[in-house]
Amino acid sequence: MLRSTVIRFGRFQRLVVATVVLALAVVGVPSCSKKPDDQAKPIATIKLGLIASFSGPFADVGQQIENGIKAYVQEHGDTVAGKKIEILRRDTTGPAPEVAKRLAQELVTRDKVDFLVGFGLTPEALAAAPVATEGKTPMIIMNAATSIITTKSPYIVRISLTLPQVAAPMGDWAAKNGIKKVSTIVADYGPGIDAETFFKKAFTDGGGAVIDSLRVPLKNPDFSAFMQRIKDAAPEAVFVFVPAGEQCISFMKAFKERGLADAGIKIIATGDLFDDHQLQSIGDAALGAVSTHHYSVAHDSPENKAFLKAYVDANGAAAGSPNFMSVAGYDGMAAIYAVAEKLGGVMDADKALAILKGFTRTSPRGQITIDPETRDIIQTIYVRRVEKVDGKLRNVEFENVGVLKDPGK
Ligand code: PHB
Repeated sequence: MLRSTVIRFGRFQRLVVATVVLALAVVGVPSCSKKPDDQAKPIATIKLGLIASFSGPFADVGQQIENGIKAYVQEHGDTVAGKKIEILRRDTTGPAPEVAKRLAQELVTRDKVDFLVGFGLTPEALAAAPVATEGKTPMIIMNAATSIITTKSPYIVRISLTLPQVAAPMGDWAAKNGIKKVSTIVADYGPGIDAETFFKKAFTDGGGAVIDSLRVPLKNPDFSAFMQRIKDAAPEAVFVFVPAGEQCISFMKAFKERGLADAGIKIIATGDLFDDHQLQSIGDAALGAVSTHHYSVAHDSPENKAFLKAYVDANGAAAGSPNFMSVAGYDGMAAIYAVAEKLGGVMDADKALAILKGFTRTSPRGQITIDPETRDIIQTIYVRRVEKVDGKLRNVEFENVGVLKDPGK
């Protein structure tokens, strides 16, 4: 058949066939399974470089942030403004500031991410800040809570909390509720020192006295060694900040075992100590303790119900309760989706920052706004008490302190 066709070709046709064959040899034969168009176009993505500790003593910090991110993607889909969200997840194994910095450099220069996100621990956020500035990359802080962080780069936006924002209301509340003598104990690094400073100022302004201030190492603290000193000082209450996660359990265990509760010493704390994810593991020793924070899984609102559902859908029931870090991951994604939509999927760092300044939404924790001046979070702070609700330990909000900016700035 082919032969007879060729036989019928004249000289001109033979020339055309030869030219086509030669051209195909040079450009290659398109495969039958793919249209040429599909091959040429890479999938358009918005890239997020997620940096946090996913292993080691602070593994839970990264996990909670990531679970919150997944909840948002589950609820809203992985495509926004025609672009697919691509998450490049990097483990610092921290606290490891130098690793966080190197990972940020790689993500910005080699992977060309559109946003740096995550940052559970203050030293890691501080180390990565200059990379955000040099690489002109928006950096969304989803936990790290030392006041100073947002001043370290004009590209940083914080969607989580600041320690002064939650510690000062605890000082006010304690003074107003008849507590006169307090010892403080905090992790000896940025957020702990902020917590100690701002609790103390508010408490002493309200007429209270801090009789002893203890600082414990961030890594592997032996809390039991500090308990005797607190007991001997005999305060009415001890104010506590430890980073949420495993340390909540070891602190509360030491407090109980060393007989401080039996000696009548009350615990007042920032909500980090009664992190919703760890609360069931802490157990009944937490009952009655008062803390100040911006989020509780017990917060009664339609947005929180939707979040809790999306959290289980995305992560499974075995993931347990989300905590305030998960909510920051979730809200951080809402901010990124809002930027992508406003920019029609065409990312630009400075335009993104302009949109993020003043960004506002009804979060599972209530209304939140990014302060256009400081790029820090403005939100409602609540006083809560640990109670049993339907057989589960919960931080039940009983007083609304109002909408607060970071008092550290
Ligand atoms: C921080 O390192 O900034 C940090 C870590 C855990 C917390 C709060 C702040 O619960």
